[in-house]
Amino acid sequence: MTLTMDKFLSEMEKEKPMRFTEQHLKIATDNYSYLLGSGGFGKVCKGIFSDGTIVAVKILHALSHERIEEQFMAEVGTIGKIHHFNLVRLYGFCFERNFTALVYEFMGNGSLDKFLFDRNKAIGFEKLYEIAVGTAKGIAYLHEECQQRIIHYDIKPGNILLDRNFNAKVADFGLAKLCNRDNTHTTLTKGRGTPGYAAPELWLPNFPVTHKCDVYSFGMLLFEILGRRRNFDIDLAESQEWFPMWVWKKFEAEETEELIVACGMEDQNKETAERMIKVALSCVQYKQESRPIMSVVVKMLEGSVEIPKPLNPFPHLFHETFLPASHTNTYTSTFPGSSEMITESSHEASSPIETKLEIESAST
Ligand SMILES: Nc1ncnc2c1ncn2[C@@H]1O[C@H](COP(=O)(O)OP(=O)(O)OP(=O)(O)O)[C@@H](O)[C@H]1O
Ligand SMILES: [Mg+2]
Repeated sequence: MTLTMDKFLSEMEKEKPMRFTEQHLKIATDNYSYLLGSGGFGKVCKGIFSDGTIVAVKILHALSHERIEEQFMAEVGTIGKIHHFNLVRLYGFCFERNFTALVYEFMGNGSLDKFLFDRNKAIGFEKLYEIAVGTAKGIAYLHEECQQRIIHYDIKPGNILLDRNFNAKVADFGLAKLCNRDNTHTTLTKGRGTPGYAAPELWLPNFPVTHKCDVYSFGMLLFEILGRRRNFDIDLAESQEWFPMWVWKKFEAEETEELIVACGMEDQNKETAERMIKVALSCVQYKQESRPIMSVVVKMLEGSVEIPKPLNPFPHLFHETFLPASHTNTYTSTFPGSSEMITESSHEASSPIETKLEIESAST
């Protein structure tokens, strides 16, 4: 065994992220030859250490050193310390003058988006339900069981990874803010998340933002799991274009059964699907205080607690007065899932990186 691997294994035993050199990672990834994908912060490559451990190396874009360091330390400081079955494990990191990377456990089945939106890669409803419950458990842990509450800020199918047995692992706490439990909320000065998943308060300046923004995003994810489609799909009939609204309309008219059939679910899954519908509608309530906390979401999904009848989550799409006057255009003229649902100021953000960093730089 090499000295490096010896050190790696002993650090892993201590459950502490290991520091790698650029050279280690270059060798492990065969000079970054196997690209797994890329996202807002950089590309992700597959790597293998000499003992056979397979990893995913996320190479962060060369941003200004100060910013990257901030981002980097936030990520290492959060996920490096926490371990949960439904959270992706950080094995280590590399931090050198011109090279910064994070080393994660490798997830054999990649991210959930492929299985939801790629017809050739579909997985069964039972497995999707388990993935939904696992994801909820991972987020509940971040919110309610860590010493310091961790808000994810970017829950979406691309950030739910699947191991080789399709167990859900929440990934990417790149946007996570560590909030002291004493501080009940964070105020974002310029915050906004991914269109379609970000809670309304993330798009409104100087609105208090709490862990409930993740509950909203989880609700949007749950709709996509139910529909096995993107929430916003312009190719569909107008009444079905924005799935969450279609679900609400059907729920309100007590026609969920029809919806369940339309989504291709089988009779034996009807009860579970109905629970998922109610949970999704509860999670995306406009008012943060009306959304359940994630540990309750888990129980609701599992059927161990009664789910109160959800109210209309989208009253603001019908009544302009519901929102502060300066923001009515954002929410009344288009659906939240549409790419048009971006406030005037958010057009200024030219890349996902900038968007993320704006959220990252929010004051706590
Ligand atoms: N630990 C991992 N194991 C296997 N594949 C991974 C792992 N982490 C990331 N990937 C793959 O790399 C892709 C890119 O990930 P990345 O996090 O950079 O982007 P993203 O999740 O699409 O967007 P975002 O920047 O918002 O997180 C993922 O979609 C996934 O397929
Ligand atoms: Mg990601």
